[in-house]
Amino acid sequence: MIIRDYNHRDETGWVRCRALAFLQTAYFDNVLTKKEHYQNPSIELVAEHDGQIVGLIDVEYAEEQTVCSRGEGLGGMIWHIAVHPDFYRQGIGQQLLVAAENRAKKLGLNRLEAWTRNDLWVQKWYKRMQFNIVDSYYHVYFEEDELHPNYKSSIPDLYLVNTFAHYVGKNIEQFKDNKRIYECVCFEKFIFLPLNNS
Ligand SMILES: CC(C)(COP(=O)(O)OP(=O)(O)OC[C@H]1O[C@@H](n2cnc3c(N)ncnc32)[C@H](O)[C@@H]1OP(=O)(O)O)[C@@H](O)C(=O)NCCC(=O)NCCS
Repeated sequence: MIIRDYNHRDETGWVRCRALAFLQTAYFDNVLTKKEHYQNPSIELVAEHDGQIVGLIDVEYAEEQTVCSRGEGLGGMIWHIAVHPDFYRQGIGQQLLVAAENRAKKLGLNRLEAWTRNDLWVQKWYKRMQFNIVDSYYHVYFEEDELHPNYKSSIPDLYLVNTFAHYVGKNIEQFKDNKRIYECVCFEKFIFLPLNNS
């Protein structure tokens, strides 16, 4: 297994690996058909085994809060990290992260940020990789039978059927009967300590 830079010829393998990895998670239907590309500079690595893409990590980075939701200086957002399910728990995720962190340190990044839903095993992985939870809000899905009569489109002849929403308030209990509701959690890891902590 080798970790190397993403190459445009990897796109099909990247898309397949990501889709299969996320099938086991609360993001199971968040399927991309093309590799995402970024406005800002990025670190894009893949893990390759016998010619197959078995893991991937994408980190976009920028100053201040351009891509990260918090912090000062150069910070990186992990938009995608995924390991093919046939290769879970073999250290590939950790190796991808370490490789990305080494690049990030050389580039002068001081921290990494990642958002994930409440898949406890994925959160366990982030905690084991020394990330800390620093924020959260909710992802709420409304299927047709869950849409309250007040949830209306103001566009004539347009009727909401299924809806996805972000909820940042305190009264999440009001949606407790929805079938799909997730806490979306922000993980942060300092790869260089901020000055006031050193
Ligand atoms: C999260 C993910 C990237 C981890 O990669 P990985 O190569 O499987 O994990 P590693 O081998 O680096 O680390 C394994 C450790 O993580 C934790 N972990 C990973 N999967 C776990 C599981 N199913 N149950 C419990 N702990 C788990 C454990 O601490 C484990 O150590 P152990 O096997 O000694 O108990 C990978 O499982 C994945 O692709 N998940 C789906 C996609 C995803 O959720 N990405 C992140 C959201 S943005």
